[in-house]
Amino acid sequence: MEAETASAGGEKKLKKPWQGRFSKDTDQAVLNFSASLPYDRRLADCDIRGNIAHVEMLSEKGIISADEAALIIKGLVEIKQEIAADSFPFDLSFEDIHMNIEKRLIEKIGSLGGKLHTARSRNDQVALDMHLYMKEEIEIIGSYLYQLQETIIDLAERWENVLIPGYTHLQRAQPVLLAHHLLTYVWMLQRDHERLNGAFERADLMPLGSGALAGTGFPIDRRLVAEKLGFSKLYENSIDAVSDRDYVIEFLSFSSILIMHLSRLCEELIMWNSAEFGFIELDDAYTTGSSMMPQKKNPDLAELIRGKTGRIYGSLFAMLTVMKGLPLAYNKDMQEDKEGLFDTIDTLKALLPLLSAMLQTMTIDRYRLAAAVDDDYLCATDLADYLVRSGVAFRDSHHIIGKMIAFCRDGGIRLREMDSEGRGRFHPALAEDISALLCPARVVEARTSRGGTAPSAVKEQIRLARKNLT
Ligand code: ARG
Repeated sequence: MEAETASAGGEKKLKKPWQGRFSKDTDQAVLNFSASLPYDRRLADCDIRGNIAHVEMLSEKGIISADEAALIIKGLVEIKQEIAADSFPFDLSFEDIHMNIEKRLIEKIGSLGGKLHTARSRNDQVALDMHLYMKEEIEIIGSYLYQLQETIIDLAERWENVLIPGYTHLQRAQPVLLAHHLLTYVWMLQRDHERLNGAFERADLMPLGSGALAGTGFPIDRRLVAEKLGFSKLYENSIDAVSDRDYVIEFLSFSSILIMHLSRLCEELIMWNSAEFGFIELDDAYTTGSSMMPQKKNPDLAELIRGKTGRIYGSLFAMLTVMKGLPLAYNKDMQEDKEGLFDTIDTLKALLPLLSAMLQTMTIDRYRLAAAVDDDYLCATDLADYLVRSGVAFRDSHHIIGKMIAFCRDGGIRLREMDSEGRGRFHPALAEDISALLCPARVVEARTSRGGTAPSAVKEQIRLARKNLT
């Protein structure tokens, strides 16, 4: 990049770093097509931090002088300020953020700026920037996930004794505590956390010093760079260091599983918020109206979060496909790791706090919930269990209670509306007083198995879930 040529107009123009072996310029359309600058600009801060650590190491190892390092670092700090102040002259013909920063450095401090790239390639440089960037973003997303978990645990505590029908096949199955139902999402998010931590560990590997692919003969100290930048481990194979994008794919798989969970939650909120269910009401601030139908209040935010699933899955599949069949080591295909990843990060960072806020502000309709749970057919399993306790085999008792339910359904009555004699016709033991078995709250209270829905078990669950957050 030190070489300057006279351009057609006579003014001096900086050459691209690799221009030496070329006798003419790259076609403009090719440049436009290949440039990553429009989206990798967001790596600027990471690039500058990486540059500074690299330059400090070069000088500490005597590869460049301390005075040279000081001038380069001064130039880099100025560039950082220019970028922050929006006065940096981005130049698309210099393809990406790495070459833009290097070009600007040379403009500022002359050919000395060209020493920055000693013992380095853009291949290990871009890998370093991406690792630094991922580590930062993972921390932020992790904290938003914690907030969401905390929000849900708070709701579970707020609505501690509220019952809701539990469903299978979207058919009312057995009564459960609303808290129990909601806490399910906390455990899903807990596993998401574990996956995110795994992605962090894989992002916490330092690739710089691998050169284009083979390492370098300069007496560099990779451990020193890792320490300066807060990495705990080094890549132990230079080819692996520049050709690995597993950490991106792992993050996108974490994101895909997470958004699948959030999409399920949003789907339930949408259903529960409908007139048909009427279990909850989403706050006005997190819903929108219809331009035509004045009565409408639409759960747009929940729908849109559900809808984002497609894009995030798409980014995971795009990346898996990009990497499939790529020969070692770096290939330009790998530049495609950025847009889907950045989009996913932006999407998650936007939606996680919104989802927390929407949950915090929603209200429940205790009347509608109580009415839904009042359906004592939900206690059929407990009646069957009762017969088992009096010696009937479960398969037989299931059949007997099934017949009794069919009888009630035909007559349009609830189980508790049958008298003792009527019940006794199905099995003598049913003639006893079974009213406690037909009370959803009592049924719930009895399910004290670990992880079950009894208030005592749910209390313990809340305690464990909170402990995970600390
Ligand atoms: N912009 C490139 C990327 O994002 C940087 C690495 C380019 N290296 C190369 N040898 N062309 O992947």
